[in-house]
Amino acid sequence: MTRDPAAPIGIFDSGLGGLTVAAAVRKLLPSEQIVYLGDTARVPYGTRSPETVQRFALENARFLRKHNIKLLVAACNTVSSVALETLRQAVPEIPVIGVIHSGVRAAIRSNARSVTVIGTRGTIRSGAYERALKEADPGLQVNAIACPLLVPLAEEGILTGPAVKEILHLYLAPLRETPPDALLPGCTHYPLFRAALQEYLPACTQILDCAGACAGEVQELLAEHGMPAHGTGGLRCYVTDSPPGFEEQARRFLGYAPESVEPATL
Ligand code: DGL
Repeated sequence: MTRDPAAPIGIFDSGLGGLTVAAAVRKLLPSEQIVYLGDTARVPYGTRSPETVQRFALENARFLRKHNIKLLVAACNTVSSVALETLRQAVPEIPVIGVIHSGVRAAIRSNARSVTVIGTRGTIRSGAYERALKEADPGLQVNAIACPLLVPLAEEGILTGPAVKEILHLYLAPLRETPPDALLPGCTHYPLFRAALQEYLPACTQILDCAGACAGEVQELLAEHGMPAHGTGGLRCYVTDSPPGFEEQARRFLGYAPESVEPATL
């Protein structure tokens, strides 16, 4: 399955949230070229049926395959929960990784004995994290909470303050009484709430770095397949819609302005 090491890594998400993963990959692997696709015309995926998410994921993968990618990262928890096998079957020539496995690895490595997963309704409903965590460590105490209002808040750029605290309280109040050892942010938008989560939850709860864990997995997979790049890396973005305020939003997720943003027709 070894492909040209100079080929780009393809990363996609339902929108811009996956840029948190792209940013972590850029940081860890600065020599890699990344082609990012954000399906901004159809975000959110978290409220849709598994069949619809699978169809969207396949269209995204087909778009990125045209860029001759050497590795495909489904940087969307909802897609990773319900469409990873469909993707692997659709592009057998390209290694495909999702974010559930890396999130689970981050949890196992943290040595936590209790983990709370937070995510979209689709991700939580799928039970994918609970299954994978229990499989990795049957003795682990796991619970999962859907936090759907966090995605629109992140998209509005409201990341701290009373509205965020109110929403965190709505979903996570029980965790203040019975804090888990680790919180697994199982949604690509949630790393943006790290500061607010840290402030809201007791200090004994560790907030896992799932984007960083995914970047680590990309590094391992490239090494395993003999595909690490050696040139100058970069990040090219494609989006299926470019709403007002888009640049600002992208900067928020990435931490800096993207080099290029082009329209994508799937
Ligand atoms: N990217 C999605 C995820 O990680 C969150 C946004 C959406 O619902 O599409 O689950």
